Amino acid sequence: MCGITGYIGYKNADKVLFDCLKRLEYRGYDSCGIALVQSDGIKVIKDTCRVKELEAKHKKVNSKIGIGHTRWATCGEPTAANAHPHSSCGDKVAVVHNGTLDQFIPLKEDLINKGHVFKSETDTEIIPHLIEENMKTMSADDAVKKALGTIQGAFAVAAIVQNENKLYVGKVGCPLVIGVGDSECYVASDSSALSKYTNRFIYLKDHDTAVLTPDSIKLFRNGKETEPEIELLDKNLNDAELHGYPHFMLKEIHEEPRVITTTIDDLDDLATLLATIDKDLGGIRMIKTLACGSSYYASLMMRYLAPQILGIPTFAELGSEYCSLTKGQKGTLAIAISQSGETADTIKAAKAAKANGYKLMAITNVKNSQLARAADYVWTTKAGPEVSVAATKTVLSQIAALYSLILAHPSLSKLNKEDAMDTFRKLPDQINKIFENVDSIISVASYLADFKDAIYIARGLNYPIALEGALKLKEISYIHGEGYAAGELKHGPFALLGKEVPVIAIVSHDENYDSLVTNLREVKTRQAPLIAISEENDLTISNLADYVITVPHTKPILSPILNLVVVQLLAYYTAVKKGNPVDFPRNLAKTVTVE
Ligand code: G6P
Repeated sequence: MCGITGYIGYKNADKVLFDCLKRLEYRGYDSCGIALVQSDGIKVIKDTCRVKELEAKHKKVNSKIGIGHTRWATCGEPTAANAHPHSSCGDKVAVVHNGTLDQFIPLKEDLINKGHVFKSETDTEIIPHLIEENMKTMSADDAVKKALGTIQGAFAVAAIVQNENKLYVGKVGCPLVIGVGDSECYVASDSSALSKYTNRFIYLKDHDTAVLTPDSIKLFRNGKETEPEIELLDKNLNDAELHGYPHFMLKEIHEEPRVITTTIDDLDDLATLLATIDKDLGGIRMIKTLACGSSYYASLMMRYLAPQILGIPTFAELGSEYCSLTKGQKGTLAIAISQSGETADTIKAAKAAKANGYKLMAITNVKNSQLARAADYVWTTKAGPEVSVAATKTVLSQIAALYSLILAHPSLSKLNKEDAMDTFRKLPDQINKIFENVDSIISVASYLADFKDAIYIARGLNYPIALEGALKLKEISYIHGEGYAAGELKHGPFALLGKEVPVIAIVSHDENYDSLVTNLREVKTRQAPLIAISEENDLTISNLADYVITVPHTKPILSPILNLVVVQLLAYYTAVKKGNPVDFPRNLAKTVTVE
């Protein structure tokens, strides 16, 4: 959580910092600030507002070096005093920090005893004071390096020091990337925040520190100066612009046909990776998935698919609830799924599984993420950067990757594979059809917007989609949504049914169809408004439901992908109708780096 950025070069730093912060707001947005090096000292401006509001208040300053921060409060409430940057006495040093520091109280007390005066409740504020204290006996470069070696916990830090034309950075356990320009350097929590400025990046490793000037990058790894490795990123895959869409969420949903196509294009590479895993494990005999949030709902798909199609027992675990008590046996594979690759609970569970003898595969959208680095095998979903806090195209990319794993598995017969591929290839056009018929979704969303509660139901493979649909509704439309396996409705939730609680049913045209129709009749009997997401021309459903959103016909096994797009759009248009801040819902952050 929290986004950090920095700039040193020939451009006006304030403009660059505000621009980058707007792209980092998905990491937290309860307060923000920037600090700029000026000839007469360091100027800090910060407040409990969104970046564009702070920018509007700010009077332009002629400075070419600065740092910026957008916050999701962890240590200290979201107040102006707790907002970053934090500075030392007399604003000689300013620091922005993403992460949480352990055992900072003794350090703070020691600094207070030495005469330092603190202005906030944050853990971060010890860093500028430590740097300033160190500078009494050493150069600024050494003082920063020493301070970053003293603090403990997880951090990505950028610092500026009065009278030093340098930008200092370092990290342990939180992401930090340097963007390399011509006579300028950028810093950010992720590369997509810098995509407008450069496609050349240096990804810092844990315990790296670096000193940046407009023309030089001194990187220190394990204390030794090391030649930095510059990676070139494809601009299209790093694109985080709105391109005319009113919200990133809508733009990202509209990228979903492309995500399916990319997944299909990569199928041979995935088959090669799977063959390696299969060989290393002597055949996959059991799978355990580990994930949080929407990624957990995506992972639930594997619990249905792998046993049904491949006969491999599969267990889906929440990263935050994983009990690492069972030892991995021969042939057991843990698959950790995380779009950011940074979710603390998922990483902790993945490392615990590995320590317990599981081979670890990571499915992530961020190639250089912590999760990717911890894994034995990495599959990168190429969904491109996702800005909206509510995950959409990345969830679809994870589900598509899990289908691909099934398709790529050597035990699937050639005939079954070809048949499934034909259906898979039709999905991008079918998703586009859903976009063309969006009016029916918009009108249901207008109706839904007046309710306080809603219940999603489904059976079998579509049950994870019901859970995800309810989560999306909560996240962005602030309607209390619950997802239930339809058969469970009568074991409690029935008590809630009535005119005030609509039920949204995802109808699967498979072996569960008859039981689901029975459940829908039960719902209607309780007078609950019924919205069905179903294939075209299903008279039984259109007679039963008050509203029907139709999806194109596909093989039942692939129907969750099309239904996922519908539930995402339904949540989106409901939130729009309510006038909610779709991309930045209250109290949430996209990347959750705390347990
Ligand atoms: C946060 C986001 C969710 C996301 C979850 C897991 O809560 O708001 O959209 O599903 O984290 O994130 P991950 O990066 O691990 O997929």
